[in-house]
Amino acid sequence: MPDAAGRLDELRREAEAAVRSASSTAELEDLRVRYLGRKSELTGVLRGIGELPPEERGPVGQAANAARSAMESALAERIAALDASELDERLAADRIDVTLPGDPPPHPGRLHLITQTRREIEDVFVGLGFSVVEGPEIEFDYYNFTALNFLPDHPARAMQDTFYVSDDVLLRTHTSPLQVRTMEVQPPPVYAIMPGRVYRRDSDATHTPMFNQVEGLAVDEDITLGDLQGVLLEFARAIFGQEREIRLRSSYFPFTEPSVEADVSCFQCGGSGALPDGSRDPLCKGSGWLEILGAGMVDPNVYGFVADNGYDPERVQGFAFGMGIERIAMLRHGVPDLRMFFDNDLRFLEQFP
Ligand code: DAH
Repeated sequence: MPDAAGRLDELRREAEAAVRSASSTAELEDLRVRYLGRKSELTGVLRGIGELPPEERGPVGQAANAARSAMESALAERIAALDASELDERLAADRIDVTLPGDPPPHPGRLHLITQTRREIEDVFVGLGFSVVEGPEIEFDYYNFTALNFLPDHPARAMQDTFYVSDDVLLRTHTSPLQVRTMEVQPPPVYAIMPGRVYRRDSDATHTPMFNQVEGLAVDEDITLGDLQGVLLEFARAIFGQEREIRLRSSYFPFTEPSVEADVSCFQCGGSGALPDGSRDPLCKGSGWLEILGAGMVDPNVYGFVADNGYDPERVQGFAFGMGIERIAMLRHGVPDLRMFFDNDLRFLEQFP
């Protein structure tokens, strides 16, 4: 029947146009219900076929089925196209890589003041061109004493100062053994600092059985005491403030000649020894100076232990120094008792974020 066939044709074109312009799969589902659902006009036509005059049933039925399959395939095509582009959009929008590690949790604590101080000291010397070297805490007597020109009966070797493991093995009493260890593996020039733990049989407000030192060693062809002075001044200003001065006093160590103690001008009183109210500065005890380390020019006898590696005292010379990290931190932060560093009392540790 031409009328019914014409209407079906119209319906199909209308549905196809709507499907083409649909922009989401949800919209397409609405169109499917509207054009092919139980209450759609097309379903109505198909249901009413039985009531048509017999000669119309065949043509109308065929036209209705043709319209239905045309609409169904238009819908299927459009759904496939939209599914693909919706997936692409989602992939682009949700670009989260679930294989990446999560955000790290915030640090639960903080670095110990000794670690902070050690790192600050390292930074200063790395900035001056020194490298950082580490070595064993359980050490041979040879490196700790003998190769540093300690005579066999030097009092520092005695049992009351040193933790001996056996006759020739001990807990290092200073970081100086790394001087010879470093020169053994590296021909001159050497510019290195050596931080680490050291051990002595000692315990009171200013001594603990374990503490930390930083050793320094510079060996090259034209090193003088003036270079030592310049490096220590740079160090003192970086750690204690740009106005600081440095002073060397003569001293004695077996492995340096000449040997010195280095003082930095007091950062609390500015070097005058007196506080603004005229009273004696308790930090420097009124002297205006704070002792910070031992140092000197490397004794030629020490080079004798590494002569095979190019250390000829006629050709190279150098300086060495050694400081206590706890001492630097105590001076800077006014810590009254060395043992506070190792008590693990949070009320103390939390003051140094
Ligand atoms: N090792 C010495 C000590 O523990 C400190 C020291 C003094 C180191 C003079 C040096 C130095 O390198 O030249 O007391």
